[in-house]
Amino acid sequence: MVQAKPHPQELTEELKNLTVSESEQIIQFNHPEKYRTSQWYTGHGEITASGNGRSFEISATYTLKGEVKLVDGVFEPDNPTLAEVYSSRGRCVAIVDQTVDELYGDALRRYFEFHEIPLKLFACRAWESDKTPETVHRILAFLGKDGCDVSRNEPVLVVGGGVLSDVAGLACSLQHRRTPYIMVGTTVVAAIDAGPSPRTCTNGSQFKNSIGAYHPPVLTLVDRSFFRTLATGHVRNGMAEIIKMAVTDDPILFELMEEYGPRLVDTHFATIDADEELGKIADEVIYRALFSYMKHEGTNMFETYQDRPHAYGHTWSPRFEPAAKLMHGHSVTVGMAFGASLAVEMGWLGTQERDRIINLCRSLGLSVYHPILSDIDLMLEGQKNMRRKRGEGGLWAPLPTGIGACDYAQEVSSGLLQTAIEKHKQLCSSFPNGGGGKEMYLSDLGLE
Ligand SMILES: NC(=O)c1ccc[n+]([C@@H]2O[C@H](COP(=O)([O-])OP(=O)(O)OC[C@H]3O[C@@H](n4cnc5c(N)ncnc54)[C@H](O)[C@@H]3O)[C@@H](O)[C@H]2O)c1
Repeated sequence: MVQAKPHPQELTEELKNLTVSESEQIIQFNHPEKYRTSQWYTGHGEITASGNGRSFEISATYTLKGEVKLVDGVFEPDNPTLAEVYSSRGRCVAIVDQTVDELYGDALRRYFEFHEIPLKLFACRAWESDKTPETVHRILAFLGKDGCDVSRNEPVLVVGGGVLSDVAGLACSLQHRRTPYIMVGTTVVAAIDAGPSPRTCTNGSQFKNSIGAYHPPVLTLVDRSFFRTLATGHVRNGMAEIIKMAVTDDPILFELMEEYGPRLVDTHFATIDADEELGKIADEVIYRALFSYMKHEGTNMFETYQDRPHAYGHTWSPRFEPAAKLMHGHSVTVGMAFGASLAVEMGWLGTQERDRIINLCRSLGLSVYHPILSDIDLMLEGQKNMRRKRGEGGLWAPLPTGIGACDYAQEVSSGLLQTAIEKHKQLCSSFPNGGGGKEMYLSDLGLE
């Protein structure tokens, strides 16, 4: 008979931190703190031996610690936030959106000079069409051995919009298999959604964001003063991600958006021609949107749970957004407005609440209808893909059940989909531009 080896119990003599349950053959392994090298990532695990000397099960639990902070003037020399992170590390390795570098690069360089911290900076063009594996490779070349040779515990600074946060976040997840990064989101989308998100990615050939990894930043800094230079169309675009949290999770945020949303777009979140009072509202809107989003997304690391209200407006749109070349925010509001009509059709939502949702989107100049919705084959294909992506159990499409609440639709038959699309089209046909919004199409040359 072959002797089983090594038996888990034999290990206890060598390793002091093991505890053994003899009956179940479970070993819990807690790595001693003195060996820890990462400030943000910890892990421990459990090994359960079958007892036959031929198999065992491992379950590992790890913690990713992250923080999200609203800050004012992140590149103002007297703001200590970044200096506190980088001065002890002796340098800062940064990836910066090329446009942001043109606008804020001098301020950023002055900041690090003032604090006497050497800076290695890669200005990366980050248009939607750059959201490709090639861009990820270019960033990896900058981070890797022939570039800055970052250490696996060195937090890379990423400064830019949602495109950059997605591709640079993915590059960081690949470098040394996991290198931490600090995100400074310079667009509304990056500040309240893509920036703190654990979902990093590039686009696949047909579907947006289909190749990626879960790798949240260890620190997200949100400084709305960047929105001053943002094209108004991009400010509006970012409002879609705030509306989705307001509709599905936070009725107070919804009311704030109804009352102040248009002024927040016009003043770029109180950074142009606005008083202090509106500044406080802007901060509250940003904080509420972030908190609501991260409460659901930040605690559900691998999207294994499908109670994901923030997927509202994102069930059919990943398929029709690239096909119609819509701005992300407009495609999400088309998806949300259609979702509200579908929810009415299913008896989940009243027409008054549907109209409040659609009116809020329209009051900000966001689209609520696009003719591509009538391409039923495309819609069904998007639905099929989403079902596969979210995990065979169902479609899990979040749909509103009121203002600040939602539930998840598992089945949307082809007949129901067609009826809801037809009714939504009729509803929107009386709106100017058939429900189309302002500056709704993507232009990689910018909206300006
Ligand atoms: N990972 C996620 O969870 C998640 C969530 C939402 C959106 N996204 C992705 O984010 C992307 C959209 O992000 P976005 O809306 O930030 O677009 P973006 O990154 O393309 O930025 C918009 C434009 O503004 C420029 N810019 C950035 N900051 C600026 C500033 N302060 N002043 C002037 N110009 C500035 C950029 O160079 C770009 O031209 C989409 O690809 C979307 O799929 C990802």
